Amino acid sequence: SFTEQVDTNIITLTRFLTEEQVKHKEATGDFTLLCHALQFAFKSIAYYIRRATLVNLTGLAGSANTTGDEQKKLDVISNELFIEAMRSSGRVALLVSEEEENVIFFKQGPHARYAVACDPIDGSSNLDAGVSVGTIFGIHKLAEGSRGVKEDILKPGTELVAAGFTMYGASAQLVITMKGGSVNGFTLDNGLGEFILTHPNMRIPRKRAIYSVNEGNSLYWEDHVKAYFESLKQAQPDNGKPYSARYIGSMVADAYRTLLYGGIFAYPADKKSPKGKLRILYECAPMAMVFENAGGQAVDSNMRRMLEVVPQDIHDKSGIFLGSYDEVEKVKEFYKKKD
Ligand code: AHG
Ligand code: MN
Ligand code: MN
Ligand code: MN
Repeated sequence: SFTEQVDTNIITLTRFLTEEQVKHKEATGDFTLLCHALQFAFKSIAYYIRRATLVNLTGLAGSANTTGDEQKKLDVISNELFIEAMRSSGRVALLVSEEEENVIFFKQGPHARYAVACDPIDGSSNLDAGVSVGTIFGIHKLAEGSRGVKEDILKPGTELVAAGFTMYGASAQLVITMKGGSVNGFTLDNGLGEFILTHPNMRIPRKRAIYSVNEGNSLYWEDHVKAYFESLKQAQPDNGKPYSARYIGSMVADAYRTLLYGGIFAYPADKKSPKGKLRILYECAPMAMVFENAGGQAVDSNMRRMLEVVPQDIHDKSGIFLGSYDEVEKVKEFYKKKD
């Protein structure tokens, strides 16, 4: 009958969050409200990205950020949209953003018990070509009795209460995970203006012959890193075929594909960037939490568990390898043979 053609029992992100809150008896609703603000930030960033070419929002802003990147106009606008969403939620005490040199401390309210780290636009070099970009976020809770200090965010990823990202691709895809929980994926329905649960309990395939790395940097790689990637280009024992290479150049998009299809994504530390390129608080740690909770792994260039890395500074960087469980195991074997 016609009633079967329409799904009337849709799980929106709002409904999902409400149901999660009910499961946690101690929950105050503050985290839920913070997530509502987050989803508005994602919707508005998605909206401006889609209109950028029409309203002269392509190109450079004419400034650079602390980590040395030239800022695009959309880096600046998305940063401001994100900051205002967090500020107005009244649930966030402090915010770290790729585009802000210092920690932003919001005016204190009684409910501001969270510290948020964000990469407002990840992959901004891809913006003007209309290639997928994203927003990455990590959420920490303030220490007991704290009113919000830098130390509340200079914490290892193991302490994240939630993390995830939204990819602005053919559709906007939001992936979120909470401490000790599963990974859930939502698709923005532009007509409804709602994120709909389309990928419940995401699990990364155990292995897959796809690697994702900027091979143009191989001149600077250490020998064991070169040897590892070289090995992937040889006939593999199981099927006699080499791996496929896929590199978009937006971590969010490369990671999202890796999460769905399996494989490995890497941005190793190298002789040019001994500390790596990607930043711990708002790129490496949130992604590592998503991958671990989906059954994968994430390690730094010394094969340390990424989630245990403690940043000294808010913009500290790290090398990273993340992906399918078995693919990360292979990287570790090559590291063991090093020296
Ligand atoms: P951002 O656009 O937030 O500065 O991040 C860029 C990052 C990440 O998205 C991507 O994986 C990587 O830089 C690409 O770097 P290369 O261009 O050096 O490959
Ligand atoms: Mn940047
Ligand atoms: Mn980034
Ligand atoms: Mn960015």
